[in-house]
Parts: sequence; C-alpha cells; structure tokens
Amino acid sequence: MRTLCLNELELSIVKKDLIKQRNNGIIDKEVISWAESIREADRIVIAAPFWDMSFPAALKNFFELCSIFDVTFKSDDKTCYGNCRAEKLLYITTRGMNISTGDELEQATPYLKALSWLWGIGPLEVISAQNMDYVSEEEIEIRIEEAIKNGLEAVRSF
Ligand SMILES: Cc1cc2nc3c(=O)[nH]c(=O)nc-3n(C[C@H](O)[C@H](O)[C@H](O)COP(=O)(O)O)c2cc1C
Repeated sequence: MRTLCLNELELSIVKKDLIKQRNNGIIDKEVISWAESIREADRIVIAAPFWDMSFPAALKNFFELCSIFDVTFKSDDKTCYGNCRAEKLLYITTRGMNISTGDELEQATPYLKALSWLWGIGPLEVISAQNMDYVSEEEIEIRIEEAIKNGLEAVRSF
C-alpha cells in the first residue's frame, strides 16, 4: 500500500514549459512513480476537505501531474481510454456548509467521476460529513463517528 500526503509533496504546477518537456518525453521520476502507483493500485482512497465548492486545487494539480499518456491513460485514433487497474475509488470528505453529495453546488464528485472514466478506474463511492462549520462540537463528533461507521461499512465490500 502506498500513501501520498499532498502537503508533503513538491507539486509543480502544470504550465506550458512542463507540457513542452512532457511532449519531449521528459517527466520527473517522482511524478512518474506517483502515476505508476495509481495505475497499479487495486483500490484508491482519496481524503480531502471541501474547498471552494470542490476539492483543494493541490489535488487537481496532483491529478494533472499524474495524468500521463501511456501511464494512467492511453489513446487510439479516436479517443482516450483508461489504463488503471483499480476497480473502486473511495472519496472521503467533510464540508463546512450543509451541502450533500450530488447537490449541484458540490463540484468535487462530478469531476472525480469524469477523471475516473479517463483513467479507467471503477465506480466512485463517497463518504462525507457536512454542515461541519455550523454545528456544535458535540454534533461534529457525532457526524465524524457516523462517517467513520459508514467508511468501515463501505470498506467491507471494497
Ligand atoms: C480554504 C477553505 C475553503 C473552504 N470552502 C468551502 C466551501 O466552498 N464550501 C463549504 O461548504 N465549506 C468550505 N470550507 C469549509 C471546510 O469544508 C470545512 O471546514 C471542512 O470540515 C474542513 O475539513 P478539515 O477540518 O478536515 O480541514 C472551506 C474551508 C477552507 C479552509
């Protein structure tokens, strides 16, 4: 099992120069190793807070770095297709406001579903706790406990 903590990683931003290097086959070895870990994983778990109606930009940055042709996805003469093994993706999050998974204001899961399709990763399962910034400390604990219970239940068949 490999755990990547984005706060501890040096994430370069994917800009023109990096794309140019990538097109010339120059890709940072560590970045390749992240992408290969994603490709080879049986299961993937993402834990990230809900920021600005989605997940933090650092995670999007990480996805862009790891979206590497011939590693996480491939392409034929018509379209791209996934190259990853994982049959399931679990996404765990907490939201400050009272916004539910699937609400149109919740823009993290639609993106994760689309990226899963691109990379060929199986269905997305979501564990969330919401309204966390507007309830008492006691209620926060109850919601966290509930999320942990749901998570443990989900991983039984994960
Ligand atoms: C930078 C930042 C942006 C946030 N944006 C949102 C938001 O758009 N919607 C929301 O419901 N909560 C938002 N929140 C609140 C967090 O989702 C909420 O506090 C969450 O429980 C944080 O989880 P953590 O304690 O694990 O960091 C934001 C928090 C921060 C720090």
